[in-house]
Amino acid sequence: MKRMDIDDIEYMRAKPWNSRDFSIPGWFATYPTMLSLEEMRMLAFISGKSSLPEGQVVDLGPFLGGSTVALAWGLELGERRGATVHSFDLFTASERQKYDFLYKKGHPFYAGTDIYELFLNLTRDFRVNSRKVNIMNSAWGGTETQFRFCLSTYQSLGR
Ligand SMILES: C[S@@+](CC[C@H](N)C(=O)[O-])C[C@H]1O[C@@H](n2cnc3c(N)ncnc32)[C@H](O)[C@@H]1O
Repeated sequence: MKRMDIDDIEYMRAKPWNSRDFSIPGWFATYPTMLSLEEMRMLAFISGKSSLPEGQVVDLGPFLGGSTVALAWGLELGERRGATVHSFDLFTASERQKYDFLYKKGHPFYAGTDIYELFLNLTRDFRVNSRKVNIMNSAWGGTETQFRFCLSTYQSLGR
């Protein structure tokens, strides 16, 4: 019988997160993020399928939290319901980045380059543990990670 899980590369190549059966909330489309809607769908789908009970879900570089909320929303669908997403970023944004990823999606003006308060506000409805750090100088102190989201993860899935 076909396994149909996230360890099955053939199943994942078919991009099951794009299936009509996998519905996402409307606010995904307007969330201020550098990710495409498909990338948010993919993260939500994968975290929803995750099962390792003690693995930690770690988002390295969430920017304003698009990847974080997609992972957190997906977790609520599956066996890991109630799990926390651990998110680490410098949490800074240039005026250009705010224009491209925040204002263009209809969000109001936000002063300054430090976006940590905005991240906290945008992700407040989810179980998120965040720290404003340079990940190059920080050690991971948690238990084994089940799922780490960073650029290389989605490159390996075919981008
Ligand atoms: C391409 S963006 C990620 C987009 C994000 N996942 C989203 O959902 O919009 C890369 C992020 O990595 C962060 N970053 C890059 N180098 C970093 C470092 N050394 N320490 C912490 N964060 C870093 C940046 O601040 C930026 O927010």
